[in-house]
Amino acid sequence: MEKIKVGIAGLGRLGKEHAKNLSFKIANAELTAACSIVPSELEYAKKELGLEKVYLDFHEMLKDADIEAVVIVTTSDQHCWQIAAALDAGKHVFTDKPLGVTIEECKIAEKAVERHPELTFFLGFMRRFDPSYSHAKEKIKQGAIGKPYMLKATGIDPEALVEGAIKFASKSGGIFIDMAIHDIDFIRWFLESDPVEVYAAGATFKHPEFKAVGDDETGAAMYKCANGAIAFVHVGRTAPHGYHVETEIIGTEGTIRISPVPEKNLCMIYDQHGAVKECVSGFPERFADAYRIEMENFIHCIQQKDKPEITVYDGTKSTQIAFTTMEAYKKRKLLPITY
Ligand SMILES: NC(=O)c1ccc[n+]([C@@H]2O[C@H](COP(=O)([O-])OP(=O)(O)OC[C@H]3O[C@@H](n4cnc5c(N)ncnc54)[C@H](O)[C@@H]3O)[C@@H](O)[C@H]2O)c1
Repeated sequence: MEKIKVGIAGLGRLGKEHAKNLSFKIANAELTAACSIVPSELEYAKKELGLEKVYLDFHEMLKDADIEAVVIVTTSDQHCWQIAAALDAGKHVFTDKPLGVTIEECKIAEKAVERHPELTFFLGFMRRFDPSYSHAKEKIKQGAIGKPYMLKATGIDPEALVEGAIKFASKSGGIFIDMAIHDIDFIRWFLESDPVEVYAAGATFKHPEFKAVGDDETGAAMYKCANGAIAFVHVGRTAPHGYHVETEIIGTEGTIRISPVPEKNLCMIYDQHGAVKECVSGFPERFADAYRIEMENFIHCIQQKDKPEITVYDGTKSTQIAFTTMEAYKKRKLLPITY
């Protein structure tokens, strides 16, 4: 089967991970072009990825008739117009989460996807492709825990990266927009129901810089879903031990916990600190398999003309839920979530 020729937009923290996967790990893909507004990243693409075609301008990359698919890993506020432009140029599109940063933008992406049913549109909620999370979903489908009625999700960035989070805080959209979108997607995926009510609160005990820009270092939100199920999301930026992503799904007949210890590997170190399990340091390490598997899935969908499970409407809904969560947090009120 012919390889799918791909152009990537964005070569920042995550873009480089996707670019390396496309260049070296995805058998049916060939990364042929890259676009970034940062010239040094284009130098990286030439030197490290061996790319000849590099662009400072997204529209210029789209003119390249060779490119069949575009992978968008730019800053979140660029996603929606780039999705529309790429689909209108006849390219299949993968975009990283979030779909967009406003509902209006998300609607532009929805319209573009509706204009091009012949093209694949893939939204990268990669945690769904993590082997442990997809295994949990399969077990739940098989009835292993009965009817799921509660989800508890934790996502805490390592304290080691807090300086970066402080710098970015004023532009992040707030802790729930910035950090909770994957957990919000999990509520809908695991509980198979949309949240219809939310209450949220925040706290800062260590880094007052977050408070200074109207944000917090820790956030907690509670949701009630249309089918009566409950969800609790805890996000934060100060995990001392590493990158802590943990999820628990509770059902009428049992519970599944995914990654209660965010362990690096199967080693246990016995020393003066006790019996120690080292933890993963960040998202590229924890979700390396998920990023590769989701990209394989994107290429598979193009080649086999399969419809991706996650739709553009899932992207709009998760953005809507994140926005209402931020509003509930700011107003300190229980709010209805409307779609
Ligand atoms: N799925 C995940 O776990 C996960 C993790 C991290 C980031 N992300 C998402 O990935 C995206 C990128 O995040 P990041 O941390 O890599 O950001 P980053 O700031 O490190 O990189 C941003 C990149 O976008 C490029 N860019 C910005 N505007 C552009 C434009 N108009 N045309 C072309 N290139 C443009 C920049 O040149 C840069 O290469 C964000 O949407 C973020 O939410 C997802």
